[in-house]
Amino acid sequence: MNMDIIIGKEIGSGGTSNVYEYGDNAVIKVYKPHVSDGVINNEKYIGELLNKTTLDIPDLIGSIDVNGKKALIYERIEGKVIAESLLNGWYETEIGYKYAKLHFDIHQKSIIELPSQYDFLKNRILQLENIAEEERESLLGLLDSFPKDNKLCHGDYQPFNIINSYEKFVVIDWNGACSGNPIFDVAWSYMTLNSPVVSHVLGEKVAELFTNFNNDYINKYCALSEISKDLILMCMPIVAARRLYDNNQNDNEHTRIEREWLYNYIQNM
Ligand SMILES: Nc1ncnc2c1ncn2[C@@H]1O[C@H](COP(=O)(O)OP(=O)(O)O)[C@@H](O)[C@H]1O
Ligand SMILES: [Mg+2]
Repeated sequence: MNMDIIIGKEIGSGGTSNVYEYGDNAVIKVYKPHVSDGVINNEKYIGELLNKTTLDIPDLIGSIDVNGKKALIYERIEGKVIAESLLNGWYETEIGYKYAKLHFDIHQKSIIELPSQYDFLKNRILQLENIAEEERESLLGLLDSFPKDNKLCHGDYQPFNIINSYEKFVVIDWNGACSGNPIFDVAWSYMTLNSPVVSHVLGEKVAELFTNFNNDYINKYCALSEISKDLILMCMPIVAARRLYDNNQNDNEHTRIEREWLYNYIQNM
């Protein structure tokens, strides 16, 4: 890696990072202070694994030290995340359908070297604090009632992690990629866009577009996969537990707004 390259302007950010231009064709993902070395190393490991596949996603180019923390360098994708048009007040159903189809296509693949989704979700449930032991038992029972499966799952498929690059949708941010049952991957995506934080941060008008997008997504995904929406809704307590675990690691206004909403999924199991 050429060490003379300087970090350029910021082009995006997410829950874990700020992302900047890096040279002409790359970006650098600089992690926020709350993100542990373990999480960064895991993203690097997954990136190296996915580099070896034929998936049409940005290559992981390498890593460098930025202010004492590892930062990851990825191939740059031209375009804007698909959330951006929603934020600007524009949405049409075709976008939601295309997004659903892409998620469905990902779920037709298997990369069995990836971490096990089942083990990951089970650990999250076991590690979750502040729930009753009967609730924990019910969550584990619910998890076990679904087949484990070994399909490629993204882990955080949502409109801030898809770049619309000349009409082609390119999926980024694979740090939670795993091998497992697509139903939990879909339940996570659906839950994410239904969060009360969406209207809190973005206002009612944009939240309505996100709701339309989410409904088109789930209807199209169910049609393609022949999985019923009721079955996906049955997974909500599991993905709520996963999100509650994340929220407990990072106390801020948004995670506090979500907490009660997430507990409700578990209590109404
Ligand atoms: N390879 C890339 N090419 C272009 N933009 C990117 C790329 N990777 C990330 N971004 C931008 O940076 C944002 C945050 O990156 P992401 O990997 O999703 O980080 P986080 O884990 O913090 O969500 C994205 O929403 C996108 O706007
Ligand atoms: Mg992201």
